[in-house]
Amino acid sequence: MELYAATEKNIQIAAELIRGGGLVAFPTETVYGLGADGLNATAAASIFEAKKRPFFDPLILHIARMDSLYDIAETPDSRILSLAEKFWPGPLTIVVKKKQHVPDIVTSGLETVAIRMPDHPVAQKLIELSRTPLAAPSANRFGSISPTSALHVSRQLHDSAGIILDGGECHVGIESTIIASSGSGITLLRPGGIPVEAIEEAAGIKLQAAEQGSMPNAPGQLPYHYSPEKPVHLVDRITEDIPNAGLLFFRQPQFVCPAGRSLVLSPSGSLREAAANLFAHLHMLDSMDIDSIYAERVPGTGLGLGIMDRLTRASMKKQLIKT
Ligand code: TXA
Ligand code: MG
Repeated sequence: MELYAATEKNIQIAAELIRGGGLVAFPTETVYGLGADGLNATAAASIFEAKKRPFFDPLILHIARMDSLYDIAETPDSRILSLAEKFWPGPLTIVVKKKQHVPDIVTSGLETVAIRMPDHPVAQKLIELSRTPLAAPSANRFGSISPTSALHVSRQLHDSAGIILDGGECHVGIESTIIASSGSGITLLRPGGIPVEAIEEAAGIKLQAAEQGSMPNAPGQLPYHYSPEKPVHLVDRITEDIPNAGLLFFRQPQFVCPAGRSLVLSPSGSLREAAANLFAHLHMLDSMDIDSIYAERVPGTGLGLGIMDRLTRASMKKQLIKT
């Protein structure tokens, strides 16, 4: 994929590419997406090919206006609809009953489709000019660290056809929160860029945890995912140097640590800042000449729930390979 600055003219070129069935990586407020025409099954299939993603992992359709929702989905129940109205554009994805013409490859054959309206001017313009919902997973190779800059995308997907619109760094930094309605309640399918507490407050009810086995076999939900090449060890606190390891601190460390292989998610302990830095820091540590990565746990509240979800999955890979 080739890098293009996200100028008005290049977004227009990118939209033409989408309309012709091509691939465009584009910035959103969460992570970069790898987009294709979400109503064109062949175009959507090329996303799976480029990412080396298994077909059983359904994609999110991205829209730029509220009325586009009704082109692809049945009217959601009122609770889900008012959450979408409150948090869109933004890092919330809703899973709702799909309309017939949404291709099976997008939904992995499910009767439901995941939909989100991103809060990013480049993403919105691209969707608008493409005149179709964009199917877009995170623009990384399957299972590896999600991209929060155009450079992260080009390092992982340079062999694929298509273009990358460079719109700078993603300011939220972790993927959207995914919810679905479940009978009388709402289920949390993936913690992410909108804190669960904010959704619960708006909905006036507690979110239900997704039951084991109730989910499609989506790799975002696999125990290992978002994984660096280097093994990741999750610890409460790093209190001294660990030779040959990259150190990922939550806050400013209390001891003098090795410059070059120590990174801090947020010196002041802000979870928002930590989320924005998480994947970029993992990318950087993974590219260093070190044997492993030690990462500190962060508080599991607010955006911390999504950060801990990513860190936990990143740390599972090694254990799985060992067994
Ligand atoms: O912030 C984000 O959501 C980013 C940006 C690009 O929008 N996208 C993203 O896509 O994270 P992806 O493909 O990496 O993760 C989408 C996840 C899938 O792993 C799957 O778990 C879930 O969405 N999903 C999609 N369709 C679903 C459905 N019908 N039912 C349940 N889960 C679904
Ligand atoms: Mg992903």
